[in-house]
Amino acid sequence: MAENLVGSEIIKLAGEIKERIKAGQEIHNFTIGDFNPSLFPIPQGLEDEIVTAYREKQTNYPASNGMLELREEVARFIKQRQQLSYAPSDFLISGGARPLIHAAYQALVDNDDEVVFPVPSWNNNHYTHMAHGKKVMIETSPDTNFMPVIDQLKPHMETARLIALCSPLNPTGTVFSKEQLQAICDEVVEANKRRGPENPLYVLYDQIYWSLCYGETVHHDPVSLNEEMRPYTVYIDGLSKAFAATGIRVGWAFGPSHIVAKMKAILGHIGAWSPKAEQVATSKFLAKNEEVDTYLNWIKGELSERLESFYTGFNAMAQEGYPVEVIQPQGALYLTVKFSLKGKATAQVSTLDTTKDIASFLLNEAGLAVVPFYAFGASHDSDWFRLSVGTADKAQIVQVFDKLKKALTGLN
Ligand SMILES: Cc1ncc(COP(=O)(O)O)c(C=O)c1O
Repeated sequence: MAENLVGSEIIKLAGEIKERIKAGQEIHNFTIGDFNPSLFPIPQGLEDEIVTAYREKQTNYPASNGMLELREEVARFIKQRQQLSYAPSDFLISGGARPLIHAAYQALVDNDDEVVFPVPSWNNNHYTHMAHGKKVMIETSPDTNFMPVIDQLKPHMETARLIALCSPLNPTGTVFSKEQLQAICDEVVEANKRRGPENPLYVLYDQIYWSLCYGETVHHDPVSLNEEMRPYTVYIDGLSKAFAATGIRVGWAFGPSHIVAKMKAILGHIGAWSPKAEQVATSKFLAKNEEVDTYLNWIKGELSERLESFYTGFNAMAQEGYPVEVIQPQGALYLTVKFSLKGKATAQVSTLDTTKDIASFLLNEAGLAVVPFYAFGASHDSDWFRLSVGTADKAQIVQVFDKLKKALTGLN
């Protein structure tokens, strides 16, 4: 398993770019799904509570499924904001969302069980590999906003163990429409009736970006759309993205009691707990509705302003005849952009034959660092890229487009 485990392509790419920046190259680095803390600090109230919690010596082991006060608070938070009722005992807290996703895979997937997931998507290929599952990758397209649709999933309803879904989706910044998700959930419920209780089909629903939906976009989730999904759905969520708190490490999962209990047992041995002080602080912070709303409104405004600026800029380029295409952003911190540059020749008369060539060209000639969709499991032929705005300085966006246009104009 370890021999064949591939590291995160994105972290690798980001490392290479950091080296170039260190060497003095000017690069607009929009690769990593993280925030620049100078542009996106965590909420002040959260920071204050963390400091207080350490001063109050909240420094011994936390409860292995998370501090009761935090599980109670998150249960209230989800009920209030998503109208989903789950008991505090059906929540599991961990050091961010990653350990919870890993635990869900370990709890649900046996050797050679089929795991169905759309590509591009974030890291399902690696989690399936670690669980010794069989990957069933569904390649999505811009026609469905890069979300998987029921016709693609239907053929796997009898054989799969797990369908891993995410909305808003990393890397595309697009979401499930109500109809798309409803159709999938209804089919999963019907499949489970046929399959019986000994052979369930589960859905892992990663909604870590759900608070970051823009404009008219509404977040939908399986149990809200179909109550019969409750026994089959494990939710993944947390603080990391909505509160720019990627380094704070507080995540939560919730779902059927017996599955959450198994995930707790698995993580208990790994010890991937969220630090106790951060848990106490998070429970106090989430209880302050007004502060939470003020922060969420602020961060959504900042992210959507950047996404809209890039979206407008790429659309204008497309209208001017540049070979680019862009998808309307709906959520998360990501913009989906296509650079149709294959077969074009650079001034140095080298042809851009592969997506990797395009990524290198953008980096070298425009100082633009973005992640190709193949890093998210999509085909290596895909010309689509993810642009992440959590590190984007608004003042530099005009400059990015100037450089990009100049670089593209130099192509033959
Ligand atoms: C869809 C998705 N889920 C989960 C995570 C991991 O979140 P955390 O930093 O809380 O482990 C990420 C991080 O990029 C993500 O994109």
